Amino acid sequence: MSDPTVAPAPATMTKVGRRFLGRLAAQATSGVFLEIGPLFGSSTQEIAASRRREAPLHTIDTFAPAPWIERRLGRNLSRRAFDEYTSHIPGLVVHEGFAPDVVRDSWSEPIGFYFDDATHGDPGWSNNFDFFSRFFTEDAIVCGDDFAGGWPDIPRNVTRIAEDWGCELFVIGRVWAITRSRPERIATAVEETVPGLAGARLATQHDQDYGSRPAAAWSQGLHRRRPLTSFCFSGDPVADLRFTTYDSDGSPIGEYGAGEWVALDRAHGLVVSGPDCVGYQLCLAGLQRTENTKTFRAGSRFDLPEGSDIVAIRLEVVER
Ligand SMILES: C[S@@+](CC[C@H](N)C(=O)[O-])C[C@H]1O[C@@H](n2cnc3c(N)ncnc32)[C@H](O)[C@@H]1O
Repeated sequence: MSDPTVAPAPATMTKVGRRFLGRLAAQATSGVFLEIGPLFGSSTQEIAASRRREAPLHTIDTFAPAPWIERRLGRNLSRRAFDEYTSHIPGLVVHEGFAPDVVRDSWSEPIGFYFDDATHGDPGWSNNFDFFSRFFTEDAIVCGDDFAGGWPDIPRNVTRIAEDWGCELFVIGRVWAITRSRPERIATAVEETVPGLAGARLATQHDQDYGSRPAAAWSQGLHRRRPLTSFCFSGDPVADLRFTTYDSDGSPIGEYGAGEWVALDRAHGLVVSGPDCVGYQLCLAGLQRTENTKTFRAGSRFDLPEGSDIVAIRLEVVER
């Protein structure tokens, strides 16, 4: 439960990312909670309010002020500012210093929930993962923020770790999550985050490589460079959706409903029609980098920029 007398901390995460983080914390079933990089404690508040276990919530930050923090959030960081937003949280253990060094000689707790929003590039990101992963419980939920083209080490490392673990990778907003055991807990968190798409699935083909995810999570291939060959959506919430593909002259080349594979190999344009509360978002790989498009809603048309490939897709409930 959140405390209504405590103000929400200034936040850098998106609203949907925070909601997903909370639903993930609710699915933790072992060990302690560990968060790295709470800033003012917005993610700390979310984890604390959503967890169903009484296990301690450890959090690590330098609490060092920085020009970007004041510029973006109108206030600078300090341990005092963090305490203002979080001192009401039961079982909160605060480690002030640089992770993982600040706990390198003392950490011994099994970790059942790991959330990393601290160092966004290597070697810092991997230093944390390599140190703390030795303490992960067998069913730990491991997640973090900023699975995004602007932070290429995060998609690269997380995709490799998911492959090494042989597990599915889920991303909503920019929040990523993996687990080695009972991944249906993360699928539940996805559906609770976007209840309007509960039961909807999105299957994808990158040549011979098949993937399937809850439709509100990004498909396989996010922030990689393999062109998406085709996709197929299914389930009650999207039963009336239709996709039309267009060639480079703007002529329609295919129209597809639920359960049909939408072929993208010759497509230069895409339009979705049907319920105006459902839209889609794409991830494109261009010459320099990968990036996500805006959300396209019913009737609005996506045109593939020259030199880019569609590499991933997700569906979204859009506000009217
Ligand atoms: C992007 S902000 C986190 C945002 C926060 N999770 C939220 O919900 O608003 C990154 C934070 O990580 C901290 N940080 C970065 N690298 C760190 C490290 N290696 N150890 C401890 N804190 C770190 C910074 O001081 C900053 O507070």
